[in-house]
Amino acid sequence: MMADKLKNPLRAGTRVGQRIDPVSVVIFGATGDLTHRKLVPALFSLAQEGQLPADFNIIGFARRPWSHDDFRQKMLEGVREFSRVPVENDSDWERFAHDLYYVRGHFTEPEEYQGLDQFLTKQAQQTNSPDNRLYYLAAPPQFYADIIANLGQAGMTHDSEAGWRRIVVEKPFGHDLASATALNEVAHSALGEHQMYRIDHYLGKETVQNILVLRFANAIFEPIWNRRYVDHVQISVAESVGVGSRAGYYDQAGVVRDIFQNHIFQILTLIAMEPPIAFEANAIRDEKVKVLRAMRPMDRQHILEDTVRAQYSAGVVEGEHVPGYCEAPKVAEDSQTATYAAFKWYVDNWRWQGVPFYMRSGKRLVTRATEVSIHFKRPPHMLFDASSEERMRANVLTLRVQPDEGIALRFETKVPGQGIVQRAVTMEFSYGASFGTDSSPDAYERLLLDAMRGDATLFARHDEIEWAWKLIDPVIEGWQSSEAPPLETYEAGTWGPDAADALLARDGRQWRRL
Ligand code: BG6
Repeated sequence: MMADKLKNPLRAGTRVGQRIDPVSVVIFGATGDLTHRKLVPALFSLAQEGQLPADFNIIGFARRPWSHDDFRQKMLEGVREFSRVPVENDSDWERFAHDLYYVRGHFTEPEEYQGLDQFLTKQAQQTNSPDNRLYYLAAPPQFYADIIANLGQAGMTHDSEAGWRRIVVEKPFGHDLASATALNEVAHSALGEHQMYRIDHYLGKETVQNILVLRFANAIFEPIWNRRYVDHVQISVAESVGVGSRAGYYDQAGVVRDIFQNHIFQILTLIAMEPPIAFEANAIRDEKVKVLRAMRPMDRQHILEDTVRAQYSAGVVEGEHVPGYCEAPKVAEDSQTATYAAFKWYVDNWRWQGVPFYMRSGKRLVTRATEVSIHFKRPPHMLFDASSEERMRANVLTLRVQPDEGIALRFETKVPGQGIVQRAVTMEFSYGASFGTDSSPDAYERLLLDAMRGDATLFARHDEIEWAWKLIDPVIEGWQSSEAPPLETYEAGTWGPDAADALLARDGRQWRRL
């Protein structure tokens, strides 16, 4: 497999050889789902590809009375099931497992952090390597503030000669502006902003990163990337899965907190931002924040007219009968939580004035597909004898985030033969076909490596998070008020409620078929 990759001329010279310091990754919430489904499999894949330093440890920290071996066993199950790079033989696993440890502790008990600190110090001394630490908060979000504060109080957060300290915080970062600001304050009392890595796994996806390369490493797109040429933009994050075992969290969060405040806004900022002065964390984040600041706040009128909220009822998804949202365990029978939302939102700046950004996301839709499409304006004058449908068609640039990552451009062409008959055709670039199908590392692999390298470009800064909540809070409040738009219903296995189609139809537009 590796040899095939190397033969592909497009992959030649692509290895990023930046050195990573010896490091201990300390996972808070080590017995949870994320650790064995995502984090440890990602680290295992990186280790197998030789991307981790020789002095590397993973220390799980959680409440359950597990031994090192219990932890290793559980992680082996996760790696077997979820790792991109498979466990080929026992010795690969044993080499990796040798560096896995478990420390038992309660997140809210300050004295238990001393034990963890001693363990880490001793580890570093034994291997005679720097005591660099990457703390990873994979615990339930209600413990984030306690964990950060306790690490701070135990003197475990200061960069020093002994080693650096960084902290990765999983989403959700707060559940509204007030809670996010409070969490940022706790974080800043214990750490510097340069030590904070607020993760959004969408930023680790290849095609999301490629938005920047497409826009800023090519000369042909940027001149038309504005209100003069762009009619509107669509961002869709469709999921076929339901809420699974996370209903307890999801019923409180809903789709707007779960997907829009973070993933969709991250994609939107990369699409809409101005060119940064450098490919450097703060330069990029400055531009992203400007986009969020330019987004038109939703007032009552806009909430009624430009937002759609809906919840799925029973239906058939990918050939399987599935129950409605309210029938899921741990969901209230009369839950009003939206599992689907669609918005029309404006970015009020020189580049985007008057260009609507339509966004939608939902669970239990027809299929899993995430894409961004830039819909250009129609030709100002039609020379050819086109039907009214042909006159309606415009060029569309589509960035397919998942699955089948790629980029496609739709344009009109002449059908061969007599006379002029036109048809829309598509020019396509596919990651799989060009770079090999196994080319994309999991988003967590990329982001974990970046955090270990100290590159925060693909992580959210405190003000990004706060501005995103500032935009979302009024929508959530509006939806809970007496003037909320109705909670629509859509059958599982469909593309969402009719009201979402009507949102675009009112403007003479329609959603792209995913
Ligand atoms: C998570 C959400 O952040 O993203 C989930 O909490 C959602 O509800 C998931 O299913 C989608 O991620 P992906 O990578 O499968 O598109």
